[in-house]
Amino acid sequence: MRVVILAIESSCDDTSAAVIVDGEVRSNCVANQDVHRLYGGVVPEVASRAHQVNIVPVVEAAFAQAGVDKTEVSAVAFTRGPGLIGSLIVGVSFAKAFALSRRLPLIEVHHMQAHVLAHFAGQPHPAFPFLCLTVSGGHTQIVLVRDYHDMEVLGRTLDDAAGEAFDKTGKLLGLDYPAGPLIDKWAQQGTPRFPFPEPQIPGLDFSFSGLKTSFLYFLREQREADPDFIANNMADICASVQSRIVSVLMNKLVKAAAQTGITTIALAGGVAANSGLRQALETTGRRLDWQTFIPAMAYCTDNAAMIGIAGYYKYLAGQFAEQTVTPKARWG
Ligand code: KG4
Ligand code: ZN
Repeated sequence: MRVVILAIESSCDDTSAAVIVDGEVRSNCVANQDVHRLYGGVVPEVASRAHQVNIVPVVEAAFAQAGVDKTEVSAVAFTRGPGLIGSLIVGVSFAKAFALSRRLPLIEVHHMQAHVLAHFAGQPHPAFPFLCLTVSGGHTQIVLVRDYHDMEVLGRTLDDAAGEAFDKTGKLLGLDYPAGPLIDKWAQQGTPRFPFPEPQIPGLDFSFSGLKTSFLYFLREQREADPDFIANNMADICASVQSRIVSVLMNKLVKAAAQTGITTIALAGGVAANSGLRQALETTGRRLDWQTFIPAMAYCTDNAAMIGIAGYYKYLAGQFAEQTVTPKARWG
């Protein structure tokens, strides 16, 4: 009999549902919440209310697109955390109710592990062991991936995440939220001619809060001399910020590869959509003889397909959650 997983993701501001059949993604529906643009960032209370509105139609769309009937579902996988508690509660409650009403097993999924396992939603995918740089709006990690279920975080951010660094510097430039994709767009027409200091953090950990502060002072100084500095130099400013964020990420990744001797290197998370980072991975990979992997765009940003893929491997391993499971805003 085939294994059909219904997967639910609601950790931040995207409501997503996917149907995975025998490890293959049959549908991956996402309802984005544009409303947060008005506030310049995700407003948790607004996000949870929007999840409540979106979840049922998104699940219906996922079944319709997959051409799968609800009676065929073998298990329900859901993001247990980490994430915004109000947002998680909506997805977890839906998953529990669906599973209870149909007497189905539940599978809890760690959001960051799912970002890593997004690589198995398509072909080709990396062979174990590999290193995965997981960069999103909430996290920045270098993960040693030994197996679907065996991952070790070798380095993480001590303050802001890489996506946050993009979003916060973008906000200072007057760009809409999320600013990451907009900085990326501008950067493609610019030259990285403004230098920003590289943080000196030991080991494989990251820090981006210093960059944000030095960027703030830089803008203040430049605008004193030229009030139109931002408007006149947007492309070069964005190229400079992006280039520094990318070099911080790449330098640590090179260090991790050297330390572990692993040459299969992957990117994951929303910031993996960044063209500068993708290009840097390719160039560095060629120079150091790495085998590199970047998931398709739809599997980089938050999506339920990655939750379903993680859920599928947990299903095969017999790893199920209790019906009493609760969301975890903070989770290792
Ligand atoms: O993984 P994700 O969709 O959600 C979280 O789990 O956080 O990542 C969202 C983050 C945001 O900070 C957004 O600005 C960033 O990914 N992002 C980008 C790009 N596309 C999305 N950052 C830089 N360049 C991009 N092209
Ligand atoms: Zn994410």
